[in-house]
Amino acid sequence: MTDPQIVLTERVQQALANAFGSEYADADPLIRPSQFADFQANVAMSLGKRLRRAPREVAQAIADQLGDFPGTVEVSGPGFLNITLDSGWITAEATEMLADPRTGIGTATPPQRVVIDYSAPNAAKEMHVGHLRTTIVGDAMARIYEHLGSTVVRQNHLGDWGTPFGMLIEHLLDIGEAAAVEQLEAGQGTEYYQAARAKFDSDEAFKTRSRQRVTTLQSGDPETIRLWHVFMDATIRYFDKVYEMLGVTLTDADIAGESMYNSMLEKTCDDLEAQGVAVLSEGALCLFPPGFTGSDDKPLPLIIRKSDGGYGYASTDMAAIRYRVDDLKADRILYVVGADQALHFRMVFAAARQAGWLPDSVSAEHVQIGMMLGKDGRRFKTRSGESVKLMDLLQEAVDRAGTAIAERGYDEETRAEIAHAVGMGAVKYADLSISHDSEYVFDFDRMLNFSGNTGPYMQYATARIRSIFRKAGVEPAAAQGPIILGVPAERALALHLLGFGAVVDQVADLVEPHRLCAFLFETASLFSTFYEECPVLMEGVDAETRASRLALCALTLRVLETGLDLLGVPVPDRM
Ligand code: ARG
Repeated sequence: MTDPQIVLTERVQQALANAFGSEYADADPLIRPSQFADFQANVAMSLGKRLRRAPREVAQAIADQLGDFPGTVEVSGPGFLNITLDSGWITAEATEMLADPRTGIGTATPPQRVVIDYSAPNAAKEMHVGHLRTTIVGDAMARIYEHLGSTVVRQNHLGDWGTPFGMLIEHLLDIGEAAAVEQLEAGQGTEYYQAARAKFDSDEAFKTRSRQRVTTLQSGDPETIRLWHVFMDATIRYFDKVYEMLGVTLTDADIAGESMYNSMLEKTCDDLEAQGVAVLSEGALCLFPPGFTGSDDKPLPLIIRKSDGGYGYASTDMAAIRYRVDDLKADRILYVVGADQALHFRMVFAAARQAGWLPDSVSAEHVQIGMMLGKDGRRFKTRSGESVKLMDLLQEAVDRAGTAIAERGYDEETRAEIAHAVGMGAVKYADLSISHDSEYVFDFDRMLNFSGNTGPYMQYATARIRSIFRKAGVEPAAAQGPIILGVPAERALALHLLGFGAVVDQVADLVEPHRLCAFLFETASLFSTFYEECPVLMEGVDAETRASRLALCALTLRVLETGLDLLGVPVPDRM
């Protein structure tokens, strides 16, 4: 199975080497889809300049060297190469793809161990909807690497430790365990936090108790640890409800919160100090990875032990990176975390490299997640200005989806199922379809739109093809062609579908799931044109054409279903 763009890139590179010498064998021939042919290669334009020759002449020299390939090439304009593939080749490739159980998706060679740090909400701070996005993007990537045959180790780096736990535990004692658990399980962590905070700020005795509680917690006092568990377990039960609603693959076994690294922090600091990588500065133990300076040109510190002896976010991340390399045996570590933490991660990675904890053979990447904004362009809040409860937000998406399909005549149960899939699909697809590092406006109306590059549109496109098969009384798996490409819309669709495997590879390499969304959207659009122009089941369509078109429907369906599944977007059977 071969992506035409990749096949052609290799061909043109070979021709470049033949015509101008092997030093050009790796040049990017700049092959793009074109409106005048299947593809256009623009390399002759830039190469002409370099070689001081007319680009047209360069283009002709490449064309002459292309040799025997399944298509035709033509030099046009100032020096473009217009390339058209033989329909026979496309047909053969598409038919092979249809017979391939992996629908053209390859396997990672060699398979890697990919550690993905994602979701990571905080229990002791305000929970915010930004974590929805890190959850959704991280989960899609986890599914994709697994599908490619790599081993994925999910790490949910919960914010479950630190000084706020003193006041959170004292507040738990004040209101009683049962009441606290009820509140936390219901997703009212923010209200809980705010109540504790208000007392902390206004009540001296409470403040003193809270501070003492931090000390007893850190010393490992059994009763305090038990109370911490009561708090955390209830909080995690709420997170689990959110995960279940979203259909993400995270489980409790993937929880590796900040608290997990407690016992490693002292050694982390000692080892870094012994290596001379960490030094004391104004009483604090600091890392000064090379290349980081503040506004005053002074080296920027990454504090791993405060002057009062306490540890913080950076200490934990230094311990975590070592654990991920040494114990989890990562080849690649992804941190799917807000873009505002970019400096922190650059410093952690640099310091870990400096310490020799992160060898060159292991890559560490911060997958920056852009901030979630409200329609007003500000940080996302409810109308009354409070932060938004994740579950309420998800429920609203489902309710709105239910309203949108209310008049389609489904019974209550079916309607609820579809509404769930459409609501969650809309939220997830909206997060995935734009590049992960751009800011993102959370807008129900747009994400629930049934047309455009949205979840509901993609689900609808898929459900529509399923219904064609229901009408035909044929299972999609039984549609095996052969595929014949009669009209341009068939050809365009088939040619596009051949690029599926390459897009998935690219998404895995670049960690850019929005590219898969764009590919699937283009698939649905090309299918729409095909379906308008090419009757499948209509009377008068001869048996061969019908078989071919059903095969194209089946291949499109497989690409859409597989692609949406890799993204974690559910597809209801009907819509
Ligand atoms: N809990 C953090 C936050 O909400 C994200 C943690 C990301 N992972 C990490 N290893 N630091 O900002």
